[in-house]
Amino acid sequence: MAILVTGGAGYIGSVTVERLRAAGEKVVVLDDLAHGHRASLDADVPFYHGRVGDRDLVARIAKKHTIESCLHFAALAFVGESMAEPAKYYENNVEQGVAFFNALLEARVLRVVFSSTCATYGLPRQVPISESCPQWPVNPYGWSKLFLERILASYDAAYGMKFVALRYFNAAGATATRGEYHQPESHLVPNVLAAALAQKAHVPVFGTNYATPDGTSIRDYVHVSDLADAHILALAHLRKGGSSEFLNLGTGDGYSVLQVIECARKVTGHPIPTRLEEPRPGDPPRLVADAAKAQRVLGWKPVQSDLASILRSQWEWSKKFPRGYPPE
Ligand SMILES: NC(=O)c1ccc[n+]([C@@H]2O[C@H](COP(=O)([O-])OP(=O)(O)OC[C@H]3O[C@@H](n4cnc5c(N)ncnc54)[C@H](O)[C@@H]3O)[C@@H](O)[C@H]2O)c1
Repeated sequence: MAILVTGGAGYIGSVTVERLRAAGEKVVVLDDLAHGHRASLDADVPFYHGRVGDRDLVARIAKKHTIESCLHFAALAFVGESMAEPAKYYENNVEQGVAFFNALLEARVLRVVFSSTCATYGLPRQVPISESCPQWPVNPYGWSKLFLERILASYDAAYGMKFVALRYFNAAGATATRGEYHQPESHLVPNVLAAALAQKAHVPVFGTNYATPDGTSIRDYVHVSDLADAHILALAHLRKGGSSEFLNLGTGDGYSVLQVIECARKVTGHPIPTRLEEPRPGDPPRLVADAAKAQRVLGWKPVQSDLASILRSQWEWSKKFPRGYPPE
């Protein structure tokens, strides 16, 4: 019996694979390497290079490895790109995602932990955001995730497919061996640290007139290892016969772009120049989680997610692997 991890060669997926294997689980990874890295996985991890919507491939993997549960990380996840190319996002995340769930149904794999996002809330009416807040995304990426949440809910009602949809806020940080490395990179923390390493001339600060204390947008940063732990707890919940759930994963603390940069200056000892830019379309001013439900349902509590620890861990990783993962 094994767990299928889609998108397991990506940032959060590879850290979760590392953690699952350390816990003695058998893991199989399916990833098309659009943004993942084979080198982010140990050489002995069974790996399939393919798309999640390839139903024949999923059927073969499910049979060969006797898949019992699935962690579905695979998705395109750049908000800005989704605004410019919605068709690409709906094809990759939604069409491929539905084909994937249908292949799981056929293979009788009825436990899914799904990577959802705070982007499903859109412009929240209240912050911190709880799971009962209305969901109305402001970008196609957020919609693609909300559609899959709804599909999972229908599949549970009709077919008994049990799921935990984890709505992550902002993943950041690294383990000793795995960190965040995307090409191109749109996330703040790796970009700030690339500027500290002088790999980038400056950090763009998108929007300085938001209704926040310093005018820059506020996000809730959660350490990637804490996210990985939440997946292991979600899996245990489903294996115990637990109900399907939607759960926020965040810390409840928000930091502005300028606060992150200031903290990174302290952690790295580098000046980190900034350049002020226009706000990006589809970027809400403030996203901070109420994560009490994840604690209640799963017993999950972030333990490595204070901002300085997050920055320090990714800083150590970036210095060790300044060119990221080697090419495939
Ligand atoms: N990084 C964050 O802050 C964040 C926040 C909220 C939600 N999420 C979600 O978490 C998941 C993982 O995010 P990440 O930051 O690790 O992204 P990532 O891009 O590093 O990882 C995603 C992986 O999925 C693979 N993939 C994409 N489409 C695929 C397809 N059709 N078939 C097979 N493989 C495919 C990519 O090659 C990549 O390795 C995504 O679903 C993302 O939407 C991330």
